[in-house]
Amino acid sequence: MIRLIFLALYLSSLCLSAPHRDLTWNDINFIHTTDTHGWYSGHLNQPLYHANWGDFISFTTHLKAKAHSQGQDFLLIDSGDRHDGNGLSDITTPNGVKSTPIFIKQNYDLLTIGNHELYVWENSKQEYDTVVKHFPDNYICSNVEFKLKNGTFVPFGQKYKYFTTPITKTRVLAFGFLFNFNRFNDGTRVTPMIEVLKEPWFQEALKHEVDLIIIVGHTPISHHWDEFYQVHNYLRKYFPKTIIQYFGGHSHIRDFTVFDNLATGIQSGRYCETAGWTSLSLNKDNLPVKERFSRSYIDFNLDSFKYHTGLTDNFDTKVGEEVSQLISETREQLQLDALIGHVKTNYYVDYVPIDHPKSIFNLLTSRVLKTLPGHNEERIIIINTGSIRYDLYKGPYTIDSKYIVSPFENEWVNVTVPKSVATKVAAKLNDADYISASRLKPPHQYDLPEVDFRQKFNQAAFFGDYEKLPKGYVTHDDFGTDGDDTLHRAVVNFPVPNVVQSVDLEDELEAPVNLVFYSFITPNILWALNELNFNVTQLGGHSPTTTYSSVFLGTLLNEFIAENKI
Ligand SMILES: *[C@@H]1O[C@H](CO)[C@@H](O)[C@H](O)[C@H]1NC(C)=O
Ligand SMILES: *[C@@H]1O[C@H](CO)[C@@H](O)[C@H](O)[C@H]1NC(C)=O
Ligand SMILES: *[C@@H]1O[C@H](CO)[C@@H](O)[C@H](O)[C@H]1NC(C)=O
Ligand SMILES: [Zn+2]
Ligand SMILES: [Zn+2]
Repeated sequence: MIRLIFLALYLSSLCLSAPHRDLTWNDINFIHTTDTHGWYSGHLNQPLYHANWGDFISFTTHLKAKAHSQGQDFLLIDSGDRHDGNGLSDITTPNGVKSTPIFIKQNYDLLTIGNHELYVWENSKQEYDTVVKHFPDNYICSNVEFKLKNGTFVPFGQKYKYFTTPITKTRVLAFGFLFNFNRFNDGTRVTPMIEVLKEPWFQEALKHEVDLIIIVGHTPISHHWDEFYQVHNYLRKYFPKTIIQYFGGHSHIRDFTVFDNLATGIQSGRYCETAGWTSLSLNKDNLPVKERFSRSYIDFNLDSFKYHTGLTDNFDTKVGEEVSQLISETREQLQLDALIGHVKTNYYVDYVPIDHPKSIFNLLTSRVLKTLPGHNEERIIIINTGSIRYDLYKGPYTIDSKYIVSPFENEWVNVTVPKSVATKVAAKLNDADYISASRLKPPHQYDLPEVDFRQKFNQAAFFGDYEKLPKGYVTHDDFGTDGDDTLHRAVVNFPVPNVVQSVDLEDELEAPVNLVFYSFITPNILWALNELNFNVTQLGGHSPTTTYSSVFLGTLLNEFIAENKI
C-alpha cells in the first residue's frame, strides 16, 4: 500500500498533479453518487471539483469496460436529492426541468428518491414522469409512493429489484429506502422503512435465492442514525451469511461504516464533490472485513478521473462529449453565467471558525446584513446558518452563484421587544438541543464525524510536502483515514451555531428594539422569547410578527458584490 502511494507520488510529480491512492478492484465494483443537487456543470470556481456530468459519464464508461475486461462487474448507483443546489436545477419552474434530463444521461443500474424530490408535488410528478420513466426497472423505492390521478398509490419505479449481474452472474436482491421523512407533499407517501419490512410483498421478496443484497437509500449510514441498522438486524434473521452493501445519503458527508463482517455502507458526499467507489469480494471464506470490502472517495475532477482510468488521451466518450455540450447550451439558454461581480477571496461556511475574516457568516453579520433596508432603528437581525447553502469562492460571481450560496426567498419579519430580551435570543437558540430537530444548520453539520484533528494533520504530514497538497477532505471513517483518492491538506469542518446575528444597537440603555428574522424561523424565535419569559401574547393575537422587508439575503449579497465591496 505504502509503496503504491509513493509510486503515485513519483508519477504525479511528473504530471504536476496531486498524489493519488489507487482504487481496489474486486469481483463487484461500484460507483456511487448522492445528493448531487443539480451540480452537473461541475464547480466552476473550484478546480478540485471541476469535472462536469459529461466527464463523469466518460469516466464510468471506462471503468465499466475495465471491470468487464477483468471478468468483474461494475454497477452505478445514485441515492437521490437531485434538486435544490445551484442555478442549473433551481432557476427553472418547477426546478429540475433542465437539469433532470442531464442527470438521466448517466447509465444508472440502481437509483432511488431523496427528500428533495418530495417537498413539492411538481418535483415528484417530474420525478415520476422523467426519471422513473427513463429507468423503469432500475428506479427502486421500497417505502415511497406516488398518487395517481385516480387516487391509487404506486411505487416510484419498482418496490425492489431481483437480478443477476452480467459478468459474475451474482444474484442480487436490491431495495430502496428513504429515511423517515414526514414533510412529503400530499401527492406522495412515505412509510417508515421499519414498517415496510412487515408488508407481504417484502416477505415474498425475501424468498429469492440471493448472493448479494444491495440497499440503496437516501439515509445516513452513520452509527448514530439507526434506521439502516434496524433494517440490517431484520435482514440478518433471514440472511445470516449473505453479503450486504448499503449506499446512503442525505447528511452530505463522505462516510463508510462497517455493519458486520459481511456488510458495509458507503455515503458519497454531496454536490458532485465526490464519486464514491466501493468494491467487494464474493469469496466464500471467512475474510476479514477490510479484505472483503474497499472504499475510495474520488474527487470529482478530470485529474482524478483520468488517473483511475489510466487514460490521458481519448478520455472523452461520444456520450460524455454530447452531455458536456448539452450542459453548456443549457447554461447559455438559462443565462446562468451572467456576471454580477467578482469575489476576491474565498468565504467559507465552516472551514474556518465563525469569527474568522474568511467566514461567510462573519461577512454577512458584520457587513452584508447591515445593508438590509430598515427604519434607521436599533435592531438585531438573526439568520439560521442553514440559510447559507455553500461557500462563496473567489472568481466570477454570477446568477448561478446566487443560487449556490443564498437561494432562499423568505420574507423578513420583525417583532419589537425590550433590548435586554432581544440580545439574548440568539444565545438561547444556540444552546437549545431541541432546535436540532428543526434543522437550522447546514445538513452536514448534523453528521460531523468525531475527529481527532491532530491525527488528521499528522497522517497527512507523513507524506511530506504537506503544504503543497491541495486542500480537501481527509475523511475519517470505520476503515481509517486513507479513503480519499487524492492526498489532501485537511480541511476541518468547524461546528457552526444554529443562528448568527447582526447587531445594530446604540447604547446600553433599555429600549424597545426590532428583532428581524426570516419568517421561516418564526416558531423558533417565539419559542426563544417564551423561554426568556417574554410574554409573546402581548405582541398580538394570531400573527405576532410584522412584515419587515422582502429584499432577500441573496439580493443583498448580489448588490454587495456588484458594488465591488469584497
Ligand atoms: C388507477 O389508474 C391506474 C393506471 O391507469 C390503474 O392501473 C388502476 O387500476 C386505477 N385504479 C382505480 C382504483 O381505478
Ligand atoms: C416591526 O417594526 C415596525 C417599525 O419599527 C414597528 O412599527 C412594528 O410594530 C414592528 N412589529 C412588531 C410586531 O413589533
Ligand atoms: C400576557 O399578555 C396578555 C396580553 O397582553 C395578557 O392577557 C396575559 O395575562 C399575559 N400573561 C402573563 C402570564 O402575564
Ligand atoms: Zn441532500
Ligand atoms: Zn436529503
